[in-house]
Amino acid sequence: MARKVILDVDPGIDDAVAVALALFDPRLEVVAITAVAGNVSAEQATRNVQAIVEQIDPPRLPRIGAAVRPERDPLVDARHVYGADGLGNSDFPVAELHHLHPSDKVITDEIRQAPDSVTIVALGPLTNIATVFRRDPSLAEQVGQLVIMGGTYRGPGNITPAAEFNIYCDPVAAREVFRSKTTKTLIPLDITSQVVMTFDLLDQLPDESTSVGRLLRRILPYSFRAHRQLFGLEGAYLHDPVALMALLEPALFETERMAGDVEVQGEITLGATVFDHRPAPQWRPNIDVATSVDSAGVIAAILRGLKQAAQ
Ligand code: RIB
Ligand code: CA
Repeated sequence: MARKVILDVDPGIDDAVAVALALFDPRLEVVAITAVAGNVSAEQATRNVQAIVEQIDPPRLPRIGAAVRPERDPLVDARHVYGADGLGNSDFPVAELHHLHPSDKVITDEIRQAPDSVTIVALGPLTNIATVFRRDPSLAEQVGQLVIMGGTYRGPGNITPAAEFNIYCDPVAAREVFRSKTTKTLIPLDITSQVVMTFDLLDQLPDESTSVGRLLRRILPYSFRAHRQLFGLEGAYLHDPVALMALLEPALFETERMAGDVEVQGEITLGATVFDHRPAPQWRPNIDVATSVDSAGVIAAILRGLKQAAQ
């Protein structure tokens, strides 16, 4: 039986790759793709979710949730990495979908329809998840599993020396989710940044005769250029597809049960994820954290998944 999944995303080129993988994986039933502001604005994230689904044209159409504009103006975005539109300036046309429900309502509906059976894969800031739990705290215990791409375990951040982007964008939401009773798995930057899509792998991507191949070849070049210019990397990180692989191929990861929290103040530590590594920890363990990854295995699994998506 396919696993019911909600993808909560802020597309984002790497989000788009994760969406393509999930929509065609027979082990998953993507019941909804919900947009959240992060890499790009709320409006652009919602537009990008629609564009990705229309470009991919999957066999089963998921529900789409509209990102709600955050109460506070975003401190940051990632257009420098993913382009002004978040998808490598591809400017995909989008059919104007009317009556899109807000992401938190879509997530709430899907959890209530299938208590304890929905896995949420959070690949952007945790704004929507926190909103769902704030509105109905009982839902936190009705989520089957929450897989989060975000934070750092021991390594440096990316958007600041202390913080990873998804957590930094909404640290208050992240703290509420970390402290919630949900079954949580964190795939931190320490792990996802060990997996790099190098140029030599590009010819293994599906070709232009497929919808997934056309999408990938439209959006990935921008990401490769940005990674070279910004990080001196001969390739591109695929943070979100790596987090999805933690759900699909758990044997490629090792996790440890930890006690974690999020810094919600601090001039230089805002958004830092902090874990109680003391010899006699005082904090209550609340999250499983990926601590190692078979990078070659994950890249191979991503390439297999994209080939499968192109069939
Ligand atoms: O720090 C990496 C995360 O930030 C990824 O989810 C990427 O899409 C951006 O949202
Ligand atoms: Ca993302």
